[in-house]
Amino acid sequence: MALLLLVLGLSAAGAQKFNPLAVVDKNYNMARISGVWYSISMASNNLSRIKEDGDLRIFIRNIEHLKNGSLKFDFRFMVQGECVGVSMVCQKTNKNGEYSISYEGENKVLVSETDYRMYVIFDMQNVRNGTETRVLALYGRIPKLSQNFQHRFHRVCRKYRLSSKNILDLTQEDHCYSKR
Ligand SMILES: *[C@@H]1O[C@H](CO)[C@@H](O)[C@H](O)[C@H]1NC(C)=O
Ligand SMILES: *[C@@H]1O[C@H](CO)[C@@H](O)[C@H](O)[C@H]1NC(C)=O
Ligand SMILES: *[C@@H]1O[C@H](CO)[C@@H](O)[C@H](O)[C@H]1NC(C)=O
Repeated sequence: MALLLLVLGLSAAGAQKFNPLAVVDKNYNMARISGVWYSISMASNNLSRIKEDGDLRIFIRNIEHLKNGSLKFDFRFMVQGECVGVSMVCQKTNKNGEYSISYEGENKVLVSETDYRMYVIFDMQNVRNGTETRVLALYGRIPKLSQNFQHRFHRVCRKYRLSSKNILDLTQEDHCYSKR
């Protein structure tokens, strides 16, 4: 029994390893993005929008690739101490992996990279009243990802000129998690 648990434990740890060869950053198979996700980290050039009570601080639960090509995100928000569920359908554009939605302004939502199996990084550009805000989000298939994925996320953030002071760790912050 102990050995079995050890083996299971090792394979779970193995599954968590970041594999650079599995990274896809174009020609996405969006159906494979579908399923359960957890918010791991977020970054923005305007932290007040992703800090507590920020309008873009949203916790993912599920993504569904719809038959018509749109992408449905199920989120949880905290509103005055209550968890509120929201679904948002992002319309597909003519570019693979790129979607648009009106929410607190106009948004372009793009897949930045993924391995389908463990993580996905989304890039969102929000334009509200002429101000552009960029938000990057790291989602994991499990509630916590190893450091390698975080490092990868930091690297992607740097590409968009977001440094570590623009990044928030959300793994301990999903107060709606226990209500899943
Ligand atoms: C950042 O977001 C806050 C909250 O929405 C907003 O009041 C502020 O004007 C924004 N700052 C910049 C530089 O866009
Ligand atoms: C695709 O289907 C969803 C769910 O039925 C709907 O909300 C969305 O508007 C549809 N998109 C297009 C482009 O028809
Ligand atoms: C956007 O600008 C309009 C008109 O100036 C203003 O009424 C509105 O409150 C602004 N919205 C946000 C979210 O800042």
